[in-house]
Amino acid sequence: PLVSTGDLVGPAAKNGAGCGAFNAIQLEHVTAIVAGAEAAGSPVVLQLSQNAVRYHGGLAPIGGAALAAARAASVPVAVHLDHAESPDLVREAVDLGFGSVMFDASTLDYADNVRETRRMVEHCHAAGVWVEAELGEVGGKDGVHAPGARTDPGEGREFAAATGVDALAVAVGSSHAMVTRDAELDFELIAALRAEVGVPLVLHGSSGVADEHLGTAVRRGMTKINIATQLNKVFTAGVREFMADRPEVVDPRKYLGAGRDRVAAEVTRLLGVVLAV
Ligand code: G3H
Ligand code: ZN
Repeated sequence: PLVSTGDLVGPAAKNGAGCGAFNAIQLEHVTAIVAGAEAAGSPVVLQLSQNAVRYHGGLAPIGGAALAAARAASVPVAVHLDHAESPDLVREAVDLGFGSVMFDASTLDYADNVRETRRMVEHCHAAGVWVEAELGEVGGKDGVHAPGARTDPGEGREFAAATGVDALAVAVGSSHAMVTRDAELDFELIAALRAEVGVPLVLHGSSGVADEHLGTAVRRGMTKINIATQLNKVFTAGVREFMADRPEVVDPRKYLGAGRDRVAAEVTRLLGVVLAV
């Protein structure tokens, strides 16, 4: 069934557990993420970024499919808008039935980030929609953010209180779109943020973090664990292997299906890592 991200992240944060949040970029990812969560018997957050929406030329085709897949799932599935910089896109997601959004004004200076985020929170909360925001610019996205960025715990507390957000994405050493899994997280900073910031914390760029460190990050206080690139890596490997073995095949369902199966298996595996605390 379709649930709200808040229904999954709130209890997870209270219990010190993690909540897996996976990015879908196309329909094969949508069905794979749901299938992977069903195989794990775990709830999951299925998220679509503003960039993925742009790839499809709009929110409705892929967003509608994600909502339909969530409603049909045998485990709780939340559908979340990830890294939205456009207020119009946030409003569209709310109207379409998304239960949560990430409004990302992290490239603005602190005062503007607070003002813009608070405005979005007011709109979303009036519709019962859960909001994540970012403070500290997690590295790597679009190649413009500094990988060395860190979120200050006091500023995080102040920002959460001033904006009314339901969860906060913080910069603790990870970077977006890493294909190696050797990012070094600052576990002391995670513990300090957990102690200071009054809302659940979100780890972005989790693909670059080794399995054991993801587990430690959850134990130190991260709750929503965002994973995108790792799924794209296994999808592409599956397609590449299939095409090398079967060069005569022209039906895309054959090679896309091979990629999709890899993604489903990786979602199941990663949910085991994130939930095993
Ligand atoms: O918002 C999505 C995540 O931060 C994904 O980052 O592609 O490095 O796993 P990643
Ligand atoms: Zn992210």
